[in-house]
Amino acid sequence: MFFKILPIVAVISTKISIFAAASKLIDKQDMTLQEEITRRRTFAVIAHPDAGKTTLTEKLLLFGGAIHIAGAVKSNKIKKGATSDFMEIERQRGISVATSVMGFEYKDIKINILDTPGHEDFAEDTYRTLTAVDSVIIVIDGAKGVESQTRKLMNVCRMRNTPVMVFVNKLDRPCKDPFDLLDEIENELQIRVRPLSFPISSGPTFKGVYNLYEHNINLFTSDERQTADATTVQIEDISSPELDTLISKRYATQLRDDIELVEGVYEQFEREQYLAGRLAPVFFGSAVNNFGVRELLECFIRIAPSPRPSTTQTRNVEPAEQKLTGFIFKIHANMDPNHRDRIAFMKICSGVFERNKNYLHVPSGKSMKFSSPTAFMAEKKSVIDFAYPGDIVGLHDTGSFKIGDTFTEGEKLKFTGIPSFSPELFRYIENADPMKFKQLAKGIDQLMDEGVAQLFVSSLNGRKIIGTVGALQFEVIEYRLEHEYGAKCRWEPISIHKACWIESDNAEQLADFKRRKHANMAVDKHGRDVFLADTSYSLALAQEKFPDIRFHFTSEF
Ligand code: G4P
Repeated sequence: MFFKILPIVAVISTKISIFAAASKLIDKQDMTLQEEITRRRTFAVIAHPDAGKTTLTEKLLLFGGAIHIAGAVKSNKIKKGATSDFMEIERQRGISVATSVMGFEYKDIKINILDTPGHEDFAEDTYRTLTAVDSVIIVIDGAKGVESQTRKLMNVCRMRNTPVMVFVNKLDRPCKDPFDLLDEIENELQIRVRPLSFPISSGPTFKGVYNLYEHNINLFTSDERQTADATTVQIEDISSPELDTLISKRYATQLRDDIELVEGVYEQFEREQYLAGRLAPVFFGSAVNNFGVRELLECFIRIAPSPRPSTTQTRNVEPAEQKLTGFIFKIHANMDPNHRDRIAFMKICSGVFERNKNYLHVPSGKSMKFSSPTAFMAEKKSVIDFAYPGDIVGLHDTGSFKIGDTFTEGEKLKFTGIPSFSPELFRYIENADPMKFKQLAKGIDQLMDEGVAQLFVSSLNGRKIIGTVGALQFEVIEYRLEHEYGAKCRWEPISIHKACWIESDNAEQLADFKRRKHANMAVDKHGRDVFLADTSYSLALAQEKFPDIRFHFTSEF
């Protein structure tokens, strides 16, 4: 049972503090680093658009005291129908840089929420952000259940075994049966679930949620909207007649049956299983009413992981290593077209990041220092002197950084797990202004470094092909090329179903494949072979005919 894990967590944290105290005598700096790591939680809230991600994020910030009024966090989603409204895109880009990382403290825990774009055309950006988090909270609309975007995002979490917690939202509206929802989450997201709270009805008859580990009931009354403290009633024993008085006999009986079923059907909550990404604790509530959010946050700070080791091509990096390592997972262009400078977001993986200290930018071999690195507390951005593993630092970039770039104190490391995903839409990009050839080439190059889309060069005719995950990106590219680089582009259609990276140990078969499929071959920006399958059938056929060739749908394999 979940409440059994609480003492375990307490023991773990006591052990950590004993270890911490002992180390303090040996090395003060080392100890401070360990303490800073232990108290950090870096995560993302992910959801299908409209499920309530922005609302939940805002309520979490309210609890942390990082903001004081509802409505302070702007939704960064680009509303449907706004696809050709460039001002809207620009406005959204401005909002999303402000809310890219939201840091706050709650009960001595430093929480970093990494924001993800709401619009599904920017899914690639979300995938990359997920490479920089240690855990994830998934928001699901209780009336709609698991939706397409949630499924896709969960696949990315699964690739990295990211621990996930689920918040079923909008219980104040008529929702699906909670057991059906739990089944749906298990089947659709392919993860075992364990409810840690359970709803008492939903919609107009929504009574509240029963907290399965604190053994209390959070009563839902309509006049408690937007407050941080809901009415909580301690229930030691749900068979007590007090329950019938509180929520009526009908719902009390229902709750008793439901809880019996939960305890009988679902396995006990084990933190290790959650940390391994195999078991998702589930909470129910209503974000807009700030209902069930405290339970989620309290449990989150207890069980969610602090920064975890990161993998590189050569070794694992432990957060407590003395020397700084970090990687860039996001680059944000400046809003002002007259300044092409960008902000690169670096996730600190180990050591302490210090302002004005020299670090090695591994890809270029250059030593660099940063005089004004920024950190993000709620909606404010400020210059910082130090940052610790789990933190995100904003670095001023004049165009020399790329997604995935590593910084160290001298070691030539390359972090792995920051893949590009196979795009879904493709177009030839052509120069529409012969006088601006150089500007166009530079613009395309920099936008690709930012990860806006992917560039492939056709082996057949040398033409440049842009691949994206959403149609909106083509408009963003065209607009930004013109406004930031003074270049004009034109799109031409190309019929491609999927781009996949190919490799093989059988050199002969690989050469044969490339010869036969010459018209469908391309190289990515690193010069790697990419097969552009024009239909799912031709892809399946190729896979069948060339069994020694491995077809990859992410760039990292
Ligand atoms: P997103 O970031 O996941 O896209 O979702 P967001 O938080 O923007 O929420 C989408 C809509 O759902 C918003 O309504 C929001 O108020 C509503 N919502 C969020 N949580 C709950 C809840 O617990 N219950 C109910 N009934 N609604 C909820 P909107 O009309 O699109 O925007 P707004 O005008 O209310 O801001």
